[in-house]
Amino acid sequence: MDNRPQWGTRAGFVLAAVGSAVGLGNIWRFPYVAYENGGGAFFLPYLFAILTAGIPILILEFTIGHKFKGSAPLSFFRINRKMEWLGWWQVAISFVIATYYSVIIAWAFRYTGFSFTKAWGDDTGSFLKFDYLKYGDVAPGELGGIVWGSFLPLVLVWIITLFILFKGVKKGIEKANKIFIPALCVMFLIIVIRAVTLDGAAQGLDAFFKPNWDTIWDGKVWVAAYGHIFFSLSIGFAIMITYSSYLPKKADITNNAFITGFANSGFELLAGIGVFAALGFMAAQSGVGVDKVATAGVGLAFAVFPQIINEMPLGEVFGALFFLSLVFAGLTSLISICEVFIAAVSDKFKIARNKAVLIGGGAASIISILYSTKGGLYLLDVVDYFVNQFGIALAGLIEVILIAWVFKQMKPLQSHANAISDIRAGLWWKICLSIITPLVLGYMMFDLLRQNIM
Ligand code: PHE
Repeated sequence: MDNRPQWGTRAGFVLAAVGSAVGLGNIWRFPYVAYENGGGAFFLPYLFAILTAGIPILILEFTIGHKFKGSAPLSFFRINRKMEWLGWWQVAISFVIATYYSVIIAWAFRYTGFSFTKAWGDDTGSFLKFDYLKYGDVAPGELGGIVWGSFLPLVLVWIITLFILFKGVKKGIEKANKIFIPALCVMFLIIVIRAVTLDGAAQGLDAFFKPNWDTIWDGKVWVAAYGHIFFSLSIGFAIMITYSSYLPKKADITNNAFITGFANSGFELLAGIGVFAALGFMAAQSGVGVDKVATAGVGLAFAVFPQIINEMPLGEVFGALFFLSLVFAGLTSLISICEVFIAAVSDKFKIARNKAVLIGGGAASIISILYSTKGGLYLLDVVDYFVNQFGIALAGLIEVILIAWVFKQMKPLQSHANAISDIRAGLWWKICLSIITPLVLGYMMFDLLRQNIM
């Protein structure tokens, strides 16, 4: 345990945590989730979810990692051996996410290059699909030959990611985040400033911020807020436990959790403004309402944005900046997901870190090739759906129930956190974790089951 790697600086740890939180989800998921769930009114459940679940769980996971100094399975084992399986479940989810998250980053890489020539032409939607289908028609889910245009950048993404992970926690992960995150902020700020000064931006912002208070009592909206927070803050994935296991003895846990949580939301808000300003421009150009162009995910990034880039002045430059932002935001998240299974394998089988990088990273990168085959686009959709619906929040729910109620860890963890932190994790923290979060997540799971079974 003595030779466990450590972060070099506090800023290094916070940047790495922020780097994990700020990812594709902030840019392509949050704006649409907010828009669809009440616009300006969504901020109420969103803030509530951050304060009652997001930040309390961040504090919890930081404390567990710091106290037990292990990857998630090892840390949970040290709480109680009957809890180790939960760590492996989270490791498994992370592994699956890494296999397709990397593919999306690879597309963003390609599209960075495409921006300069607007290689996607006029029909951007067909371009994305065509690329996948040009080797012959495939039925949804059917796998076929490799799509080389997606495969080659994927190799590049894995080389960069594994190289950084090979370098270790301080010289690799910390250093990469110290470069990528400031660069990401600068690039993204440039894009947002450009977006809000485009014609039609005001309509887009109006659509994003206009509150629809009618939806506020709809359980769906609250479920969306909670669901989003788990994915966005990378909690319930074992990531934050792993990262905080590399903290030095003296570390301000609660403060770091607040900084990470608010930095992530700040970025998300900025992304919402940028994306909707650009969508407003797009709607104005095509003479339709913003609701006709608003969307999320792969469609937003790889079909709608190329169209916006086609039409805006200097689109080549801003397009490249946009896709490079996706690459940077994605890479720092991918690194954190991979670190989860690398640390877990290395702790469990007592093998050197580099070997674990080779085994874990090797396996994830080989499996990721599946999504770069014909039909890979469908496969990605299906896997992403299941991971989001059943993986993350459920793991989070079981985590809080086991810790708060089954193994009764709140008190010892609270004193551990408070012994070293400025901001106290007081009674509010215990109430949020042992009552509010389990109730809301429990309702969420119940609702999901009801929808999927009945
Ligand atoms: N938080 C990241 C995002 O917003 C997503 C992520 C998921 C990161 C899983 C790590 C692990 O995109």
